[in-house]
Amino acid sequence: MSEFIRPELVPKRKLFTGEEIPCIGMGTFGSDRFTPEEISGAVAGAIRCGYRMFDCAAVYGNEDQIGQVFAKAFSEGVVKREELFITSKVWNNMHGKGDVLLSCAQTLKDLQLDYLDVFFVHWPFANYHAPGCDGDSRNPDSKPFDPEAFIATWRQMERLYDMGLTRHLGMSNMTIPKLEAVLPYCRIKPSLIEMELHPCFQQPELYDYCVSRQILPIGFCPIGSPTRPDRDKTEADIADIQMPELVAIAQKHGVHPAVICLKWAVQRGQIPIPFSIHENEYVSNLRCTVEDPLSEEEMAVMASLDRNCRLIKGQVFLWEGAKGWEDLWDLDGTITK
Ligand SMILES: NC(=O)c1ccc[n+]([C@@H]2O[C@H](COP(=O)([O-])OP(=O)(O)OC[C@H]3O[C@@H](n4cnc5c(N)ncnc54)[C@H](OP(=O)(O)O)[C@@H]3O)[C@@H](O)[C@H]2O)c1
Repeated sequence: MSEFIRPELVPKRKLFTGEEIPCIGMGTFGSDRFTPEEISGAVAGAIRCGYRMFDCAAVYGNEDQIGQVFAKAFSEGVVKREELFITSKVWNNMHGKGDVLLSCAQTLKDLQLDYLDVFFVHWPFANYHAPGCDGDSRNPDSKPFDPEAFIATWRQMERLYDMGLTRHLGMSNMTIPKLEAVLPYCRIKPSLIEMELHPCFQQPELYDYCVSRQILPIGFCPIGSPTRPDRDKTEADIADIQMPELVAIAQKHGVHPAVICLKWAVQRGQIPIPFSIHENEYVSNLRCTVEDPLSEEEMAVMASLDRNCRLIKGQVFLWEGAKGWEDLWDLDGTITK
């Protein structure tokens, strides 16, 4: 029997609607390394040990298997639907007219749900790449970010909200220039934004921008994604869990450095969504939110570890003529064309 952490003890974050949600969730992207069955098995175990938030996506290719786990947990009375906060995301090949509704319908069918808690636009452009393709491949149909195309997709998202198919809307992989271009036109504002956040990539400007607009940041790759696909690895990447200052804090607390990444994330205020199929890991990832916090001094050391080291560069989404992955992230403060 896995260890149970009482969900009511896990700290909460407030959405702008006043609703409270868990300060940590479980990721479900297997990085092309773990099977859908391994991942859905971990979701089942995570529900039993007290997780109440799950980050899903159509492109992860496992919503069908995770849906079976949710259905079983509800029918066996392990948890009620309204006690879970479940997210999913529309993939880049489903931004076209009518497609967002189809994508949401497929996700609801696969997850065996009547509604989602948040539906995200996974990436802000309809640039499609085949799952598992190598990092240098380019799709000739890929285009730079187009605010009008994004808003057309967002209008479909708003209809899903109107229909009650999702309780909140979210964006992912955004930049401040892109948000500036689209937020004024959103009838339904995003409640949450998913972004890469870990100690050596803290994105302070984007983080503060979201928080000041009452948009809750969700931090993906919170441990620095040590098992990410090889196409997302470069020699310049820093391994968060090997940074000496972080390792020293971990030794002091008697935990794995991964756990320190999560304590820092939760105490800073973002919602980390760590992935693991290993019970000892996902249990300690949840338990670390209810015990032995980092001191102010340790939080200051963690803040000093930012190296602006983006790991998920997104190069497979580049368009022809783009100079490099930096073009996706509007580094000079304007939308790169
Ligand atoms: N919106 C987006 O575009 C986007 C992009 C990327 C990811 N995401 C979401 O974010 C989630 C998390 O990101 P991620 O999976 O890339 O990276 P991550 O959570 O930073 O790293 C996951 C890896 O960390 C290791 N780990 C986890 N807990 C540990 C512990 N307590 N001790 C030691 N090692 C531990 C595991 O490695 P081992 O298996 O070797 O133990 C696991 O495979 C994804 O699953 C997905 O839901 C979203």
